[in-house]
Amino acid sequence: MHLLFKIIQYDLPEYKETLQLRENVMRKPLGLLLSVEDVKDDNVRTHIGGYRNGVLVCACSFKIIHRKIAHIYSICVKQEFQNRGVGQQLMRFTEKYVKLHGAARLYVEGRKSAENFYRKCGFSPCGSEYIDMNILHQDMRKDI
Ligand SMILES: CC(C)(COP(=O)(O)OP(=O)(O)OC[C@H]1O[C@@H](n2cnc3c(N)ncnc32)[C@H](O)[C@@H]1OP(=O)(O)O)[C@@H](O)C(=O)NCCC(=O)NCCS
Repeated sequence: MHLLFKIIQYDLPEYKETLQLRENVMRKPLGLLLSVEDVKDDNVRTHIGGYRNGVLVCACSFKIIHRKIAHIYSICVKQEFQNRGVGQQLMRFTEKYVKLHGAARLYVEGRKSAENFYRKCGFSPCGSEYIDMNILHQDMRKDI
């Protein structure tokens, strides 16, 4: 599927669209809405959107933290586009982009349910499983 990826500036209308997608995919299925806590760091993250015929179908954000590690957040694919390779394309774009910006490792606080997805993208588990927001998580990382 052909997708166009864009870097999205914080607080522009395109950013608000990514918030809506994030809420629909990651919070509403848990009976929640995005909280102030969820977005508190957004002004210091870089936001990425993937578009199909001009419509946002996937998004994530990242921040370079200490020692060349890029922390990736809120990877989400619009429900009707899931399991069609969109997440993998988003991860490939993000990986190339953060590498150009000096990162040597990707890190994600992954949901256990998505572990297989991360493995397919070349990540390996690190640390123990834990519960966050009542969901089992497994942190994952990848050297790039
Ligand atoms: C997880 C998510 C980002 C994956 O994106 P996607 O576009 O659906 O995944 P892709 O189609 O690119 O899948 C790539 C591979 O991972 C596998 N995969 C994808 N999601 C999976 C899941 N939840 N469990 C197990 N395997 C999964 C696919 O089978 C595929 O393997 P294949 O190429 O052998 O068929 C997306 O499904 C999503 O937004 N889920 C809900 C939100 C979420 O859980 N986000 C991650 C939070 S940590």
